[in-house]
Amino acid sequence: MKAAFRDQYGSADQITIREMPIPQPSSKEIQIQVIATTINRTDMAVITGLPWIMRLFVGFPNPKSPIPGTDFVGIISEVGLEVKEFQKGEKVWGFIDNGCGSHAEYFCTSSFSNLQKMPDGIPWDQAAGSIEGVHYAYNFINKLELNAGDEVLVIGGTGAIGSAAIQILKSMDIHVTAVCLGHKDRVQALGTDHVIDGLEEDFTACGKEFDAVFDAVGKSRFKTCKPLLKEYGVYISSELGPHGENPLLAIKSVFIGKKKVNFPFPVDVRGSLEKIAPLIQEGKFTPLIDRQVKLEEAIESYAYVQSGQKIGNVILRISEK
Ligand SMILES: NC(=O)c1ccc[n+]([C@@H]2O[C@H](COP(=O)([O-])OP(=O)(O)OC[C@H]3O[C@@H](n4cnc5c(N)ncnc54)[C@H](OP(=O)(O)O)[C@@H]3O)[C@@H](O)[C@H]2O)c1
Repeated sequence: MKAAFRDQYGSADQITIREMPIPQPSSKEIQIQVIATTINRTDMAVITGLPWIMRLFVGFPNPKSPIPGTDFVGIISEVGLEVKEFQKGEKVWGFIDNGCGSHAEYFCTSSFSNLQKMPDGIPWDQAAGSIEGVHYAYNFINKLELNAGDEVLVIGGTGAIGSAAIQILKSMDIHVTAVCLGHKDRVQALGTDHVIDGLEEDFTACGKEFDAVFDAVGKSRFKTCKPLLKEYGVYISSELGPHGENPLLAIKSVFIGKKKVNFPFPVDVRGSLEKIAPLIQEGKFTPLIDRQVKLEEAIESYAYVQSGQKIGNVILRISEK
């Protein structure tokens, strides 16, 4: 089979595309034929082994799996003898944040809590673009106690997480202001109520107060956003912050202050898939897609994603099925 390959942590330019043996499932595993996946920021953490704490989960001193890939849509092509939950031929989708080797034509897994049968009527590419960013967006938003009509500021509206967050929040009737750096029209098209282009305007001077600030690109700090929060407002960031301040501030704010920092651990993959499936089917969620590439032409896309400049999702189409 064709697969992306690297055997050490490092930048994306060490990845090559090569022929490898098709992995065979153990009695407790299923083998999945990958139809589509994404090249995403979680992949970059698995590929670079950064932050260093990632290596506790993805292998030390070298990566446990030489094949990158964390999310997938595909078809079950083999089922281990002890597996009762899944059948050969079923369509599945899922996300394994420590890496599963889905940047290949086939991979095997027993992480069944991280995948699910795929609902009908969702095109492969749309499904692939509705997993990783959605997962983080949903698992952060569900830690906020929001009501219809509340005001939320999303920083990073063009990212995979930010663009998913905007649409999930709009499906909850939240009033969304989003900050981007260019591409204002694409953020507007997601249903955003008010878009601030950070290249033209300083969002901290927008003169509004929010029930929550969700920094989906992890570029702000609590101390900068605090004046934008209402009395009991909450700040959430997708990054640790300088010197890992966000988890520390989250602990501190349990005891001190009305304005809180929340630093959630996003673990509920099935919950994310169950949340997003009906929204896609009802036309309330469409993943923001930057580009679609084939495995043979993926090399430069790894570097592009690593640069932090992608718009939404880079779809890696493995099979034309
Ligand atoms: N906590 C977790 O478990 C977890 C998991 C996955 C990812 N992450 C982190 O979450 C962040 C976002 O991931 P993602 O996949 O959504 O990123 P992404 O798709 O790579 O998003 C980057 C986008 O955000 C824009 N952007 C960059 N700086 C900005 C700023 N200061 N204000 C507004 N927009 C800005 C970029 O625009 P330009 O191209 O114009 O710069 C680009 O379009 C990354 O830092 C990633 O490491 C955290």
